Amino acid sequence: MFQLPRGTRDFTPEEMQKRIYLEDSMRNTFQTFGYREIQTPMFENLELFTAKSGEGIIEELYSFKDKSGRDLTLRPELTAPVIRFYVEQLQMEPKPLKLFYFGNCFRYDRPQKGRYREFRQAGCEIIGTDTPEAYAELIALAYTLLKNSGLKDLKLNIGNLNILSAMFKKLKITKEQQKQLTTLIDKSQYNETSQLLQDFDVKQEEAEKFIQTLQTTEIKKIKEYINDEQTKKEFDFFEKILQLLKETFNIKNYQIKMGIVRGLDYYKGIVFEIDAPSLGAEKQLAGGGAYELVSLFGGKETPTAGFAIGFDRTIIALETEKYKFPTESIKTYIIPVNENTIEKSLEITTKLRNQGISADIDLLRRGMSKSLKYASTINAEKTIIVGPKELEQNSVTLRDMKTGKQETVKIEDIHKFLE
Ligand code: HAM
Repeated sequence: MFQLPRGTRDFTPEEMQKRIYLEDSMRNTFQTFGYREIQTPMFENLELFTAKSGEGIIEELYSFKDKSGRDLTLRPELTAPVIRFYVEQLQMEPKPLKLFYFGNCFRYDRPQKGRYREFRQAGCEIIGTDTPEAYAELIALAYTLLKNSGLKDLKLNIGNLNILSAMFKKLKITKEQQKQLTTLIDKSQYNETSQLLQDFDVKQEEAEKFIQTLQTTEIKKIKEYINDEQTKKEFDFFEKILQLLKETFNIKNYQIKMGIVRGLDYYKGIVFEIDAPSLGAEKQLAGGGAYELVSLFGGKETPTAGFAIGFDRTIIALETEKYKFPTESIKTYIIPVNENTIEKSLEITTKLRNQGISADIDLLRRGMSKSLKYASTINAEKTIIVGPKELEQNSVTLRDMKTGKQETVKIEDIHKFLE
């Protein structure tokens, strides 16, 4: 017997129904915010991802050589592909360009619940604006997408990498040391961060002040810690975004968190993450922020920002909250009473389908009671029982599966009873 490759999944019709529901809901929300959908290929040139992150990222990729010896990789995310697309084809489009996408991503991660090697993202990028209102709208969109999908319990954390940089500057440590520290900060391993700072000759008292500032949710305290004129502009800008988010987008449920560093290398400035506290280790549903890739990819510099939502984790979070997904039903199930009524039954089925009514028909020639049982397992709203006697009158029996009520209906009138 063959088995699924590690970290991948099959989806049953019931699971697909939840996924389609979520995708429809998200597509609708993206569109209400003025975003337009795009698609990029499942695989890209390997260099697209190593250009910013270096060769180290290859460890996390499904990369391969094709038959002509080209170095390719399955995409681990969609931001770099979207910016490649933008630089190649969309630079002349009117700004801001608001693009959204759904797509499967591939990462050589260690699989566990909520973390897969093939997973789906819903995401977006906004290109050509860096106003505070653009960033506030972007964060509001991420939050609204998850709220509109039906989730109740969400935690929105907002950070700023320029301010974090100013914090690092106070410690007088090298870029290489910063890199090592951010890996720990990313995982909220603050004790280890403090220890490492001391290994880098930062006094214990200084290290602790730094860690406290990373953990505070009060801007005032971060300002006091940094205390320099240069960063004032950055704070004003940051606070303007937060004010807009709270007062005009009406999203009050957020926290400041300078410890957000984001795993990917292209971010700069504002960053944010949304968690579902009900989930365990893999609770991060969404992440994003402002970033720089356009000039690296050969385009004319322009501001860019975006985020992606983990589609699979959002489903798990909805299930954990016991969200009632809409159930699938079929309008009608047609049951020929005997072999002589099969052809007429097929004709009726085809006619209904042509009228846009979902209709299924018994293809197994099973008896009436088994057919009715089957009709209820597929959630048929009505069954049409096609018997020889009724057919003589050009009629059938229509049965309501909820109430059990039956009535005789002329064939040409069936659709009126179903619509
Ligand atoms: P990311 O934080 O790497 O950001 O991924 C976004 C979301 O994808 C995560 O918050 C998580 O929910 C989900 N995710 C990541 N890895 C896995 C996995 N192995 N299994 C299941 N879900 C996963 C990005 O990818 C950026 N491109 C987001 C962005 C767009 N930034 C700017 N624009």
